[in-house]
Amino acid sequence: MSTVFSGIQPTGGLHLGNLLGAVRNWVDNQGDTVGFFCIVDLHALTVPKEPGEVGKGSIELARELLACGLDPTESTLFIQSHVPEHAQMGWLLQCNTGFGELNRMTQFKDKSAKQKDFVSSGLFSYPSLQAADILLYDTNQVPVGADQRQHIELTRDIAVRFNSRYGETFVVPEAVSPAAGARVMDLQNPTDKMSKSAATESGTIYLAEDLSKTAKKIKRAVTDSEVEVRYDPEAKPGVANLLGILGAATDRDPAALADEYSQYGPLKSDTADAVVTLLEPIQERLSELQQDPDSVTAALITGARKASTTAQATYQRAVQNIGLTPPG
Ligand code: TYM
Repeated sequence: MSTVFSGIQPTGGLHLGNLLGAVRNWVDNQGDTVGFFCIVDLHALTVPKEPGEVGKGSIELARELLACGLDPTESTLFIQSHVPEHAQMGWLLQCNTGFGELNRMTQFKDKSAKQKDFVSSGLFSYPSLQAADILLYDTNQVPVGADQRQHIELTRDIAVRFNSRYGETFVVPEAVSPAAGARVMDLQNPTDKMSKSAATESGTIYLAEDLSKTAKKIKRAVTDSEVEVRYDPEAKPGVANLLGILGAATDRDPAALADEYSQYGPLKSDTADAVVTLLEPIQERLSELQQDPDSVTAALITGARKASTTAQATYQRAVQNIGLTPPG
C-alpha cells in the first residue's frame, strides 16, 4: 500500500477550498492507502498568534477533520508538536535547503507582503519544515490543493539532495491534486484563492457556517457582465469558479457542465444546492462530535503514538546517515 501524508494549518475554520482541494481526497482514499494527516501547529506559529490560540484551533480543526470523515481507526490524525521529530528533522532539512530556493516560494512572497510589522525567519524557512513533515513518513503521495504544489516540488529536491549527500535516506514523494477543486477561488474576488485571510467573509465558505448563509454567498458570487456560461478560468474567473465548485461537489467535469447552462441564475442555485448537500452530513457529525470531546482527544493521542513510531525510525536513519555521534 502506498503511504499518503498531508498537513493543514489550525488557523480559523476549515473552508470549502480545504475540503475540495485536499481533505476530500484524504477521506476518499482511506483503506486503500496508509494515511498520516497532520495538524501543523508549528507552521501556524510562523505568523504572530495570541497565547492559547493555536492550541484551541488545533482541537477545533481535529473535530472538523473527523466530521469530514477521517476515520481514526483507518488513518493517523495527529498534532505536529506532539511528535518532536518534526522540528528536529526540520532543522536537518533547513541545512539542506538553499536560501535561493526558499526565496522563490510564492507563498512566502504573498504571506510576507501581508505581514506589515514583523516577518519571522520561520515564515521564510517554513518549506523545510513542511519537507520534514512529509519525508518523516516515507511518503509516496501528498494530496494537496494547487497552491501547495511548489512546496512539494521543493520537498522532492531536498530529498534528492539529501540522498545524494548522505546516501539513500528518504522516499521521494509526489503531489496529487483533484481534477476539479484543486484551486477554489474567492466568491467575491475570483482571481484570488479562497482563504481564511480573505478581505471579506462573503468570499469564503466555512464548513461550520449556517447553511442558509452558504447558499446566499454562492448566489451573490461575483460573475461578469456577459450572459454566456462557458468554462474559461482566464476570461471568466467567477463563472469558472462556480463550475469548478459544482463539478467538484458532484464529481462532474466543469467544462462539460457549462453546456447544461445558459444563464447564471440556475448555475448559482444548482451550485448552492450541491454545496449544501455536501456540507449537511459534515455539520451533523460536527455537532455529534461537539457532544463527545473525549473521542477527539483520544484520536489525537493514538495518532501521535502511531506517528511517533514511524517518525523516530526515519529521524534516526537520517542522523545515522549524516554520521552524528550517537549518545552514550
Ligand atoms: P493550508 O493549511 O493553507 O491548506 C490545507 C490544504 O487545503 C488546500 N487549500 C486549497 N485547495 C483548493 N482551493 C483553495 N482555495 C485552497 N486553500 C487551501 C491546500 O492546498 C492544502 O492542501 N503548507 C500547508 C500545510 C502543510 C502541509 C505539510 C501540506 C504543512 N506541512 C505537508 C502537505 C504536506 C498549508 O499551509 O496548507
